[in-house]
Amino acid sequence: MTSVAIKDQVEVAVRAALTQVLPAELADADPVVRRSDHADFQANGALAVAKDVGRSPRSIAQDLIVGLPRYGAEVSGPGFVNLTVADDVVWRAVACRATDDRLGVSSPRSGERVVVDYSAPNVAKQMHVGHLRSSVIGDALVRVFDHLGSDVTRQNHIGDWGTQFGMLIRYLDEHPEVDWQGQGVETMSALDSLYKVARTEFEADAAFADRSRARVIALQAGDDRTVATWRDLVAESEKAFEAVYARLGILLDDGDFDGESRYNRSLPGVVDELLAAGIASESDGAVVAFTDDVNGPDGAPTPLIIRKKDGGYGYAATDLATIRLRVDEYRADRILYVVDTRQALHFRMVFNVARRAGWLPVKVHAEHVQFGTVLGTDGRPFKTRAGKTVRLADLLDDAETAVRGILQEREHGFTQSEVDSVVRAAGVAAVKYADLNNTRTKDYVFDVDQMVATTGNTGVYLQYAHARVCSILRRATGDSAVAGSDAEIRVDETLPLHPAERALGLILDGFEQALRDVTDTLEPHRLCGYLYDLATAFTRFYDACPVVKAEGATRSNRLALCALTERTLAVGLDLLGIPAPERM
Ligand code: ARG
Repeated sequence: MTSVAIKDQVEVAVRAALTQVLPAELADADPVVRRSDHADFQANGALAVAKDVGRSPRSIAQDLIVGLPRYGAEVSGPGFVNLTVADDVVWRAVACRATDDRLGVSSPRSGERVVVDYSAPNVAKQMHVGHLRSSVIGDALVRVFDHLGSDVTRQNHIGDWGTQFGMLIRYLDEHPEVDWQGQGVETMSALDSLYKVARTEFEADAAFADRSRARVIALQAGDDRTVATWRDLVAESEKAFEAVYARLGILLDDGDFDGESRYNRSLPGVVDELLAAGIASESDGAVVAFTDDVNGPDGAPTPLIIRKKDGGYGYAATDLATIRLRVDEYRADRILYVVDTRQALHFRMVFNVARRAGWLPVKVHAEHVQFGTVLGTDGRPFKTRAGKTVRLADLLDDAETAVRGILQEREHGFTQSEVDSVVRAAGVAAVKYADLNNTRTKDYVFDVDQMVATTGNTGVYLQYAHARVCSILRRATGDSAVAGSDAEIRVDETLPLHPAERALGLILDGFEQALRDVTDTLEPHRLCGYLYDLATAFTRFYDACPVVKAEGATRSNRLALCALTERTLAVGLDLLGIPAPERM
């Protein structure tokens, strides 16, 4: 199938024209077609090849436009070619997309296997704001890769193993009165408090610390009773994580848990193989590996600690083991680790060691998808007033309270349950979009009032924009139940195009490109920016071109634009993990 994208058609035409103008050996030069402010598109290919051809770019461009009669081609500046597409080309693209299940988006990534490691909270500890970014960014990437055809495996590498479990289990043995199971959403708070009291006792009481260590050994040896309690702790925590994912609309579910414990048995092998290969060595009782390019502040090489002095394994050993599984069993072409920037050095060293050990073949890409810190309005890492880490659930509560406040000041005619569902949807949009709409690696300020704003580049604004299109479609089609999606699409391609219709049609045409930008750069904000531009173009269109009051073919063409905008916004928001209610 030839692409429905107007940009692709323009590219094909410019390529064909270039072959007529350039000597045969340069004829497949890149036409460099881009959207432009001066025309619909600009082709800059003449500038790139001019030197090789030995002619001025302008004269190449002059010849080029002869071969592009249908594009109103004009030479500008040093040799740019401005291109304007015919009205019927835009209408045809609108019609194709509006009647296609996938809005004309192809599956360019099919055949590729991607493993995404994200969220990764720790058992018996609250998920906090640090896990928010990993969950939200990872989930958006998962959705977009999947939509473009990749075969995606989600991996939630939870912290479910380690010496802390000896302490927790021992504490529970000695304090049977502690009530921590089956408390629904409160389970995590109960576990978190358990963790804190156990840790305090561990630090204050050497005898308890010894008894806890004995419990670690029992756990590692597979002692039935110890393992049973560990399993309960993990299972209860997993239930609590899943409740947060459900509330936030994160795809991770119980099939995606890939806890550290899963790798426990392969860690001795990791160490042995690295020692045998001469990649790791013993140093002061520990097993470490050095990498050429990673040096500490003093210039000395920084060691990657594979096994600690006390015989315990570090994160590095587990992360190396994850690579082996993901390459050997999941046959990953690409592995993404969505973890904060502070782990940059760790992953650089882990990937380097895995490559040298032969566990990470050159053709498999491993990438640390890093992100910055969430800051409070005071510009410091986000903490509660008491200086504690903020619970993720509290962030959502805050956003929902702010949305409820805004709704109260408005005429809306919603029932109480409708208000509740709008509040939930907008709360999720506020929190997720504020996170996704930033350059990933930057820190950002968590500012509730800003993120629930109904104007400006926010998730809530986009939800309103979408609901507004739904309401226009309802009014126009007289259908109170369904917003546009079932309305018949009829497009008369012979109608002249209003400039605002053209602008909207061309933006709609760029949806697939925006998604490709996300997978190319691993920056979900590319999609945020696109949807914001789309909503803005729609507003301009609607201000300039009446829809409900229009008649005949003009009306049905404009309705097709509305319907396509509605679905593009809804699908786009969904790919960011944000719901798009029909009424707001
Ligand atoms: N559980 C860790 C934490 O909460 C994050 C793990 C990140 N993922 C990984 N593959 N190392 O800090």
